[in-house]
Amino acid sequence: MRVSVVILAAGRGTRMLSSHVPKVLHTIGGKSLLDHVVSAAQSLDPENIFVVYGHQGDVLREQSSHLPVTWVLQEEQLGTGHALIQVMPHVKIHQQLIVLSGDVPLISSFTLRELLRVSSQNHVGVVTANVDDPAGLGRIVRDHQGNFLAIVEHKDATHAQRSITEVNSGIYCFPTACLSHWLSQVNANNAQKELYLTDVLGIALQEGVKVNTVLPQHNHEILGVNDRIQLALVERCYQKQRAELLMLQGVTLRDPARVDIRGELVVGQDSVIDCNVIFEDKVSIGVNCFIGSNCIIKNSVIGDGVIIKANSMIEDSVVEDHCHIGPFARIRPDSYLEQYSHVGNFVEIKKSRLGHSSKVNHLSYIGDASVGHRVNIGAGTITCNYDGVNKHQTTIGDGAFIGSGTELVAPVEVGAGAFIGAGSTITQHAPPHELTLARVKQETIKDWKRREKK
Ligand code: UD1
Ligand code: CA
Repeated sequence: MRVSVVILAAGRGTRMLSSHVPKVLHTIGGKSLLDHVVSAAQSLDPENIFVVYGHQGDVLREQSSHLPVTWVLQEEQLGTGHALIQVMPHVKIHQQLIVLSGDVPLISSFTLRELLRVSSQNHVGVVTANVDDPAGLGRIVRDHQGNFLAIVEHKDATHAQRSITEVNSGIYCFPTACLSHWLSQVNANNAQKELYLTDVLGIALQEGVKVNTVLPQHNHEILGVNDRIQLALVERCYQKQRAELLMLQGVTLRDPARVDIRGELVVGQDSVIDCNVIFEDKVSIGVNCFIGSNCIIKNSVIGDGVIIKANSMIEDSVVEDHCHIGPFARIRPDSYLEQYSHVGNFVEIKKSRLGHSSKVNHLSYIGDASVGHRVNIGAGTITCNYDGVNKHQTTIGDGAFIGSGTELVAPVEVGAGAFIGAGSTITQHAPPHELTLARVKQETIKDWKRREKK
């Protein structure tokens, strides 16, 4: 049977206390809750993915326009059962319909496949879990033989039912043939005056359809995000999972609880990552690298044997093998550091290429520059790339030596092997293999006296 997926995401998310962001746009690992759930759905290669939306729907659709989904409006949020009713006109009969919650982001494709396996034309499937703290969740009620009987919402549960620790994940698989018929029998006679989707399972059972339950591969997969405390909890679970995956691939994490991965990350073997490093977007790091604490690396490619010392930031850039960066270095977008180049403390590089084995070790700004091989740039060098209106290029040839405190007023070129005296303000072409100085001459005033206080 073909599979389609419905993701319920229309709820108000009242407990988030978020008037500007729809609940499912809050992020885990830099990706929205809805993005996570859609990824899980896609892993089943379904015929269709429907997202039921409503509350703050315009923002949600606009921010999620990259998702390959069919949007279905639920104008009034009258409950999870009512949400599914909105989708039924779009659903083909004789399919399996997986229902996911937009606020349960860590569900794995493994568990969803298990769910499909226990479901069929006359078997409804539901993912349940045994948890320490079931408060707030729907309870799974069973008979003495352990057969499924019904789901009872926390608010509707008796005292005895509240002691049940097996809970509903909100993730189901229904055969579509009778689903509309079952949904039409759901009513709002409950504590929340809502049409509960959970009631469908009891109804299906009464109509002779069996309900099968499956446990998730890991319990954290069914964690829901209803408030900011749960959001933080789910984030930590997700990060733990990512960190463990890295360690299983031969990467050393000084403390797996203190690394944040917000995107795609590949790290080679024997690389070591110190505490509090953040990776964003798409990052790849080679083998034998060291990333010091508090570094932020975003959308960049780092080669092998690279050392990035503490408190450095790298964004939209390429760092080739064996470079040394930091501490306290900032590599801004469109920079390219060739192998063995060094960028030291309090150095900012922007939209520049640094040739192999070149060094900018202290307190410098290199922007819109092309720097050759084996160039040494002294402390406090500044490329004056901006004239107040436009940006201009600086070109420095191979083997040049730029003395400390030099200002290179762009557009300007320093020839290969040129030597620039410290403190120069270079405004014109500095010829190759010559010493160029451009500074006020030192002068000593004879018999000069300090003023005295009257
Ligand atoms: C729901 C289940 C509960 C389960 C829990 C697991 C019901 C009645 N209860 O409770 O048994 O233990 O999930 O996380 O289903 N939504 C809509 N339209 C609506 C109402 C909700 O689209 O009218 C969406 C929400 O955006 C959310 C999902 O459905 O993504 C679940 O709704 P929520 O209100 O969070 O239900 P819970 O109280 O968590
Ligand atoms: Ca919920």
